[in-house]
Amino acid sequence: MNNIKDQENLSHKIVLLRLDLNVPLKDDLITDETRINKIIPMINFLIEKKSKIIIISHIGRPKGQINKIFSLKPVCLNLEKKINKKIKLLNDNIFKLKKNDLFKSPYDQIVFLENIRFYKEEEKNDTSFAKHLASLADFYVNDAFSCSHRAHASLSKITKFIPSFAGLQLETEINALKKITTEIKKPITCIIGGSKISTKIGIIKNLIPKFDNIIFVGGMANNIISFKGNNIGRSIKEDNCEIIIKEIFETSKKHSCVITFPEDVLVGKNLDDKSQIKELSNIKDDDFILDIGPRTIQQIKNIIEISKTILWNGPAGYFENPNFAYGSFEIAKAIIKKNKNKSIYSVVGGGDTVALINQIKAMKDFNFVSTAGGAFLEYLEGKDLPGIKALN
Ligand code: 3PG
Repeated sequence: MNNIKDQENLSHKIVLLRLDLNVPLKDDLITDETRINKIIPMINFLIEKKSKIIIISHIGRPKGQINKIFSLKPVCLNLEKKINKKIKLLNDNIFKLKKNDLFKSPYDQIVFLENIRFYKEEEKNDTSFAKHLASLADFYVNDAFSCSHRAHASLSKITKFIPSFAGLQLETEINALKKITTEIKKPITCIIGGSKISTKIGIIKNLIPKFDNIIFVGGMANNIISFKGNNIGRSIKEDNCEIIIKEIFETSKKHSCVITFPEDVLVGKNLDDKSQIKELSNIKDDDFILDIGPRTIQQIKNIIEISKTILWNGPAGYFENPNFAYGSFEIAKAIIKKNKNKSIYSVVGGGDTVALINQIKAMKDFNFVSTAGGAFLEYLEGKDLPGIKALN
């Protein structure tokens, strides 16, 4: 995979830059700017090289139809402010655009195409669409790891028609993920939460042979607590996952991967309740398990202490209520402490976990925080991502 930073002669060349600016919007206001902030170095790099930049992104799922709700205008305005440079948002039909018309004024340096998913050809990975996009530029750069699991025209097919490169952020993300998949420093631990064990079974199975510890927390742990014969009251639990759990324990035994799950918990009678510490044998029918208990926290801290690499995906409890945020905060603190003396390599991913890290303003205290959802999970499952494959 060639990186754009190693490409000479970028001056006055047109670079088609695929980004993932699929940020959450509420009434045209961006509620989380992390994805925009992360790609600023990429844009500044191209500005410094005096390249002409065409930005492509999608937002939401407009299903091949033009729909104002899914306009990239708020993102474009936000980006303009951040880089302090004028960006021209083009609403024109992409099929009518021609390379020579794009940067007629010498003052134009950045144009931003409207939502690429307004064209049904994008999600179909359509050849003529990809060819046309490629005809607009001299080079193509994918700096959109978080949508590289999609075989779409602006991520996959396009690389057949134009010299193509990885962007700065994409390379950083892949290098971080390699440290937890192929270039591991052991002992390595995974802390995994979330509500549905079946959605993460692919990852768990792929990690067990390589990992020394897998720690189950959050809603996912309830399935295991129940599987081990405990009452979990009214806590969330997924139906019919006994076979999956059995398989996890059997495979982990075969590969000497230690499985840890809560031995005590915090419960409440509803989501807004105060917390109460409970032993697993003492959970009542009307209890909700909403966090891990103090002995479990200590056990997890001990494992973090001896780990050299850690992957954290999924909070330990219902951290939206501060009474149930303690477990997640203590995990975060333990990792941050080791990170500060450089004795651990830490990767964090998943929407809720990133929200938690943002809440405690600790983005910089982990080696890598991934904003990719589906792409992050598919990479960990060991799948080939179409956008990455296309660059190779
Ligand atoms: C994401 O937010 O995970 C990416 O932008 C991909 O979006 P999608 O799931 O709509 O393809």
